[in-house]
Formats: sequence, structure tokens, C-alpha cells
Amino acid sequence: MKILVTGGAGYIGSHTCVELLLAGHDVLIFDDLSNSKPSVLERIDRISGRHAEFIEGDVRDRDALRDLFGRQQIDAVIHFAGLKSVGESVAQPLWYYDVNVHGSLVLFESMAEFGVKTLIFSSSATVYGDPASVPIEEHFPLRTTNPYGGSKLMVENILRDLIVAAPNWEIALLRYFNPVGAHESGLIGEDPRGIPNNLLPFIAQVADGRRERLAVFGDDYPTCDGTGMRDYIHVVDLALGHVRMLERLTGRAGIQTYNLGTGAPSSVLQMVAAFERACGKPIPYSIMPRRPGDIATCYASTERAARELDWTAQRGIQQMCDDAWRWQQNAT
Ligand code: NAD
Ligand code: WQD
Repeated sequence: MKILVTGGAGYIGSHTCVELLLAGHDVLIFDDLSNSKPSVLERIDRISGRHAEFIEGDVRDRDALRDLFGRQQIDAVIHFAGLKSVGESVAQPLWYYDVNVHGSLVLFESMAEFGVKTLIFSSSATVYGDPASVPIEEHFPLRTTNPYGGSKLMVENILRDLIVAAPNWEIALLRYFNPVGAHESGLIGEDPRGIPNNLLPFIAQVADGRRERLAVFGDDYPTCDGTGMRDYIHVVDLALGHVRMLERLTGRAGIQTYNLGTGAPSSVLQMVAAFERACGKPIPYSIMPRRPGDIATCYASTERAARELDWTAQRGIQQMCDDAWRWQQNAT
């Protein structure tokens, strides 16, 4: 199959392109490189031993997408392109809705115009807000607490409406929990611009000396050690989840929703300890007040993905930290 991967030069997209190529699919990446580097493209080819085509462009650019779909025979689309920082979305909501919602609409309209109807959309566990209980199952109520989450939920709702009007589409909504780690080659990984918002990139930058110490946001949560617990998932497991989803999606009209997580949460201090083992040195940290908007514990019920996709994450937190550290050493 020929897969259009929007945002394919980004963190999750690049790992997914590698696994798609290794699985024998042809890949066309469409990315404006606003949060990724051109060097990633050559690295995807190097790891996979195959070539991913690339077109530089913005998903909001209708003419560019028309041109693309007009020239290429695309079988399915995986839509990663978008903005993903919660804090930034609070400060600049219009920009977030424009890229994440308007960009998705332009993409879906272009797909409809050219008869492409198989789509995997990158959603997020953030659509569950503060869940009443854990593990979180896919049927739990959806409520978001910030514009980023709102943009993901809006696109989910658009696609739930679309399937009513166009029941022959094959749509998957994948709700990722906390993607971390890097490819074991050390050639691709996450390289956030500026000060990292997320835990693991911050720890990695403390380990390599770019940051002095980690601020642990709260140690008074009702968890095993008082720090927040999350469902960290290795980005390669996540990438493999997309390949499996694609195989299960084609020929199955309708909309399907899956959590992609491990179902096994880890605390902030457990992640610090695993990273210390990976890098062989202590990670200095200070306990700070809770971060506004954070919840105590968040982890996925993985039953639906295991049962219906025959997919479960295989890599544990030590491998996540080992691979993140190998990448971090190359990234600096
Ligand atoms: P990323 O920023 O590394 O990748 C996104 C890619 O999209 C980048 O290469 C960027 O250049 C590109 N892009 C941004 N705006 C674009 C536009 N207008 N047109 C074309 N390309 C554009 O992010 P990621 O972590 O790989 O996330 C991928 C997707 O998964 C996003 O939709 C994100 O919201 C979602 N997601 C991420 C996480 C996470 O923690 N990383 C969790 C849940 C969901
Ligand atoms: C994890 C834990 C923090 C940084 C976010 C988005 C979510 C999704 C993934 C896209 C929490 C603690 C963190 C630090 C810390 N993205 N922490 N010190 O908040 O679970 O999820 O990224 O869809 O939408 O909200 O991830 O990595 O920021 O935090 O103590 O410097 O680490 O309090 O317990 P989060 P995170």
C-alpha cells in the first residue's frame, strides 16, 4: 500500500515511517518541517534500507494537497501533522485550532475529493481529561481541559460525524498515552525545541548537562511514592501499533477507537531511577509544587487493542530510557 504520512518527519511519524517501510509499504511524507529537521528523512531511509518520498508542505494548503492527491495513488493516510504543546495551546488557542482542526478539515476534504477514504488519526489520552477511574477504557466520557485537548476532541467529533454521512470510510482514532524513547539505532528520536515540557526529554537534558536539575511536580499525590503516574509507551511500540491498525483497517468500513498504551503506569521517581541506570549517573532533582492541571494517575486499558488488533506494547521503561539516552547522546 502507498501511505501518505502527514507529519512524517516528526517524532512519532518518523518511527512509524520506518516500521511502515520495513513492513513493505510505500511511504510519502508530507510535512512543513516546522517542528522537525530535513536530516530525519535520510535517517528514515538509512534505518529501513528503503526510500520514503517527501513533499514539503502545510496541511492547511489546499492547493498543495490537491496537487499531491492528483498526482499520487494514495491508499491510506496517517495524520500526525499538528501542534502538541498544552501550555502553548493555552497561550495561542487560535493558532492551535487553525493547525489542528482547520488543517485536518482541509486534509479530509482533499481525501474526499480524490476518493481516499482510509485514515488513521493521532488522538491523545488527553481527550479523557481527569478520568473518574483507571485504567481508562475507550468508552469513558470525553472532556478536555485545554485548547490542545479541545482540538483533538473536535477532530474526533468531526470524524464521528463524517462516518455517519460517509459510512464507507475506514477511520481509526488512536489515543496515545505518553510516548517516550527513541529508535534503538540512536538515529531518530525526540528533540524538542527550547525547554522541554515533558518529563523524559527534560530528564535526558539533565543527564547530558544541558539542564541543571529536574523539578518533580508534586510528591503528595495518592500514588506509590507520591509522584504522578503515567502510562509511558515506547515510540517503536506505538509505531508498530499503527502498522497493525492499518492492516486491520483496510476493508473494514466504520470508525474504530483504540488506546495505545502499556497499561502499566510508572511514577516520576521510577522514571528517574530507570534513567539513572541508563546513563550511569545521578539525575539531580528537587520536589516542587504540583503543576496546575496535572492529574495523579493516568493509564490505559489495553484490552481492546490486545483483543481486536492483537497488539500489545513489548518494551518496558528500562528500554525506553536506554534508547532515549542513546539518542540523546547523538542529538547533542
Ligand atoms: P512532532 O511535533 O514531533 O511531529 C509533528 C510533525 O508535524 C512535525 O514534523 C511538524 O513539522 C509537522 N507539522 C506541524 N504542523 C504542520 C502543518 N501545518 N503542516 C504539515 N506538517 C506540520 O509531534 P509528535 O510527538 O510526533 O506528535 C505527532 C502527533 O501525535 C500529533 O498530532 C500529536 O498531537 C499527537 N500526539 C502526540 C503525543 C506526544 O506526547 N508526543 C501524545 C498524543 C498525541
Ligand atoms: C509526566 C509526569 C508531571 C515534567 C502531556 C500532555 C498530553 C500528551 C503527553 C500529547 C507528570 C511530571 C513532568 C517535569 C515532572 N501529549 N513532570 N517534571 O502531562 O502526562 O502529558 O504529554 O497529546 O496531552 O498533557 O506528560 O511528560 O509532561 O508529565 O515532574 O519537568 O511527569 O507532573 O506527572 P503529561 P509529561
